[in-house]
Amino acid sequence: MQAANIESKLPGFGTTIFTVMTQLANQHKAINLSQGFPDFDGPQLLRDRVSWHMNQGHNQYSPLPGMPALREAIAAKVATLYGAHVDPESQIAVTPGATEALACAIGVTIHAGDEAIIIDPAYDTYDPVIRLNGGMPVHLSMTPDFRIPWDQIEAAIRPQTRLLILNSPHNPSGSAWQEEDIVSLRRVLAGRNIHVLADEVYEHILFDGQEHLGLLRYPDLAARSFVVSSFGKTYHATGWRVGYCIAPAPLMEEFLRIHQFVNFSTNTPMQLGIADFLRDCPEHHEELGAFYQPKRDLFNHLLGDTRFTFTPSAGTYFQLADYSAISDMPDTEFARWLTVEHGVAAVPVSVFYANPPAQQKVRFCFAKDDDTLREAASRLARI
Ligand SMILES: Cc1ncc(COP(=O)(O)O)c(C=O)c1O
Repeated sequence: MQAANIESKLPGFGTTIFTVMTQLANQHKAINLSQGFPDFDGPQLLRDRVSWHMNQGHNQYSPLPGMPALREAIAAKVATLYGAHVDPESQIAVTPGATEALACAIGVTIHAGDEAIIIDPAYDTYDPVIRLNGGMPVHLSMTPDFRIPWDQIEAAIRPQTRLLILNSPHNPSGSAWQEEDIVSLRRVLAGRNIHVLADEVYEHILFDGQEHLGLLRYPDLAARSFVVSSFGKTYHATGWRVGYCIAPAPLMEEFLRIHQFVNFSTNTPMQLGIADFLRDCPEHHEELGAFYQPKRDLFNHLLGDTRFTFTPSAGTYFQLADYSAISDMPDTEFARWLTVEHGVAAVPVSVFYANPPAQQKVRFCFAKDDDTLREAASRLARI
């Protein structure tokens, strides 16, 4: 029987570059500094708590917005960290990864014909999900030093602009919001009916004593924002697929309406284990920047012996590196060459852009064991 034809809603979107580079890295036994995941496990105690809850028989559907214990622990965390007063009953949804939270938030705000502003380089899920909702992504580019182009945002806002998507600490550039960004955000939003989707999945990974200027710190901004975070990033467990969204109650009500038909709920034993761990071991997330900073410093110190140039990341577990002193290949070609010929996989930065600027940069992930970072850097030093 011949299958009926379908017309793709996402023509032109192939397999993500992260999957492609990881496959290439495996095929060539390269060190994989491409996809953003740690090569070490999260805390033993957390894994024990998850197993314990599983063995206690907590294996059935969680309530739609998430287990109450986890929502309460999240509310307590954001109260401590950001002074935010968030009602765990009406303002928090636990989701299968931040990815689903981003998709539901976009679904709430974007109707057919609406526009959403994305600042490139940008995480790859925003654009297609806007399109799936019948909206139009409006891509702007960060400044060459990876700051937010506030004047361009102001100029791009039109009556049909419904959503501004921002990300800090920022993947892939490693930049982070400064106080002046908050001032500019307020200016741009003033008097306009625009919501903000704040992708803060790396909220705990900031370096050099910087604080995360999460939007939950600012009640006026939180009042129109979806703030999204990821336990996968915080607990070195990206495969567990647990994230969450915080939003004002009316937005959250609509968010849950969508979430109930996408996933209904998030896996129960992991939520319970995370709730215990958040409550009992807050030092884990409080000290995550201090955990990753030596890795950033080690990797950057070793990169100093290579022909790559870079500005140290302010946050995230990514480091951008410029290879223009090595080659004038386009970055996708360079990343492939680096993997196949030199045994180190990285992500070409152009894939994070709708209209890539002329630059020669790749992204390395340093969430790896120190020995892996040393071996990768020694390979890079030979180029
Ligand atoms: C900026 C950004 N947002 C969202 C996500 C998705 O997070 P999760 O794995 O929890 O779905 C990622 C993961 O790499 C990310 O880098």
